[in-house]
Amino acid sequence: MASPFSALIIGASRGIGLGIVRQLSIQGWQVVATCRGAVPVDSPADTQWLKLDINHQAERTALKERLLSQQFDLIFINAGVYGPDHQDIALVNDDELVELFMTNAFSPVRCAAALIPLVKPKIGVMALMTSELSSLNENAAATYPLYAASKAAMNMLTRGLHDTAEQRELTLLSVHPGWVQTDMGGVNAPLTVEESCSGIVNQVLVWRGKGGHRFIDYSGKVLCW
Ligand SMILES: NC(=O)c1ccc[n+]([C@@H]2O[C@H](COP(=O)([O-])OP(=O)(O)OC[C@H]3O[C@@H](n4cnc5c(N)ncnc54)[C@H](OP(=O)(O)O)[C@@H]3O)[C@@H](O)[C@H]2O)c1
Repeated sequence: MASPFSALIIGASRGIGLGIVRQLSIQGWQVVATCRGAVPVDSPADTQWLKLDINHQAERTALKERLLSQQFDLIFINAGVYGPDHQDIALVNDDELVELFMTNAFSPVRCAAALIPLVKPKIGVMALMTSELSSLNENAAATYPLYAASKAAMNMLTRGLHDTAEQRELTLLSVHPGWVQTDMGGVNAPLTVEESCSGIVNQVLVWRGKGGHRFIDYSGKVLCW
């Protein structure tokens, strides 16, 4: 029997986003997913695809208007970029910084703020894909500092949604997927997309209905901010 659950996954063309779409589809969820280019050829057949570049205000507005009549058990903002390979504050130019922080911090949280009314009250989850590298506690050495700083900014802006989430009794999750074998994570990462994404979907089910703003990884470990 099909699951009664529904999800909207933002930034799902490949990697972890597409992996979450697959896991949810296997478990019978009704899934709407977004990509900014072509629909992935290996998408589950029952996934509905819509177009969104998260940095385009007009596309964010159009997506929300298109989905206004729906309520989701899960909205997951996954899109993200790594930034320049060198990760050096002395070398990065202003355009690269704007692109990195728009894509990893401002646009995802603007997306989440706009879409939060579409999350089911009480039982719904609004999740954003962050990284343990964002944390001063988990990443005391400031490894990959530009990327890490953009995700730290995302975490704080996400905390700014806490009051709205609390009024609707939603759960806000900032999720670290682990180090995963994707275009971003590279081939040396220890986790497959399937391992990370099956863990993430389990955690959504564990935390749904619990409320608050939590920083967790794919295995359920609670991380320090
Ligand atoms: N892999 C890891 O080890 C790891 C660890 C910690 C956190 N993360 C986070 O997990 C998330 C997914 O990472 P990944 O490893 O799956 O990376 P990936 O393979 O590079 O995929 C990134 C995804 O983000 C999308 N995206 C980027 N910019 C976008 C934009 N402006 N609008 C819409 N979509 C956009 C990409 O779409 P296109 O195909 O159109 O480019 C793609 O679907 C990211 O937020 C990343 O920071 C990953």
